[in-house]
Amino acid sequence: MDFLNDFLLPPAKTTHADAVDKLFGFVNFVSVILVVGITIAVIYFVVKYYRKSENEVTPIIRQNVPLEVTWTIVPLFLVFIVFGWGFKGFMELTQVPENAYEIQVTAQRWSWTFEYPNGATTTNNLHVPANRPVKLIMKSRANDVIHSLFVPAYRVKKDVLPNQYTQLWFNVKEPGKSDLFCAEYCGTGHSDMTGTVIAHSKEDYKDWLAQAGAASAEDLPPVERGKKLFTQNACQTCHSLDGTRKTGPTIKGLFGSKEKLKSGKTITVDENYLRESILNPNAKIAAGYAAVMPSFKGQLSDDQIDALIEYIKAQK
Ligand code: CUA
Repeated sequence: MDFLNDFLLPPAKTTHADAVDKLFGFVNFVSVILVVGITIAVIYFVVKYYRKSENEVTPIIRQNVPLEVTWTIVPLFLVFIVFGWGFKGFMELTQVPENAYEIQVTAQRWSWTFEYPNGATTTNNLHVPANRPVKLIMKSRANDVIHSLFVPAYRVKKDVLPNQYTQLWFNVKEPGKSDLFCAEYCGTGHSDMTGTVIAHSKEDYKDWLAQAGAASAEDLPPVERGKKLFTQNACQTCHSLDGTRKTGPTIKGLFGSKEKLKSGKTITVDENYLRESILNPNAKIAAGYAAVMPSFKGQLSDDQIDALIEYIKAQK
């Protein structure tokens, strides 16, 4: 199976890639066995049962219970193995480790923009530290289309949508370069929407980040931009920074917390919840609060909403 994978797949560069490849190898292996077995059986039956004379009568076979049970149970068993195995890997890929290094990704026709915690930005080249979990928080520009970020060597691919965040995480085993593609047809320039992921060692990354940050020093880092916007829009009138209860919930410790809603449901506060609450505050009201917040739809750009979320996240 490993031989088949080396032949079919690019080198596996992330910590979860080997697990993905093992399952892929298993599915391929089972498929090959079935294709070969069925083909041999078909050829054998053709030779054995072809009509040898004009007078030969076709026998009538009504059913064969053991045979039917076998060809139902065996594939069912195989499908359950693939499901259980795949589900385990899917959960690992979905649950982002807490200490992950976060990078903001914006897709647009037809390029990628990456923004780092110190405010540095790059186009089409994504710089990541090796040997630590990296989380990508991704979106398309408003009024843009669906894209999909795909790094084959990392075994990760996720759709990138306008007006909603999706996320991805990976842990690169060694420094090096890998190809990055857009994997969702997005128009004329789709095939040009490629880039490179550069994984740096810890020290190299620090140097690179400092340099890239200095180049864009006139731009404030997202958390600082968010702080400014928070004050400019007078958010603190209703949302305290120190945990006090005002007209709306405090933002201290808000991100990642479990909130009870008016509807009785409990949700975890994540990027998509905060975005929705800024644009459509009445959609999911926190229990015990009145629906009095105005919508900021059309007043804040996507970049500004990102910055506000980063600021709220920082209020631990
Ligand atoms: Cu973006 Cu295809």
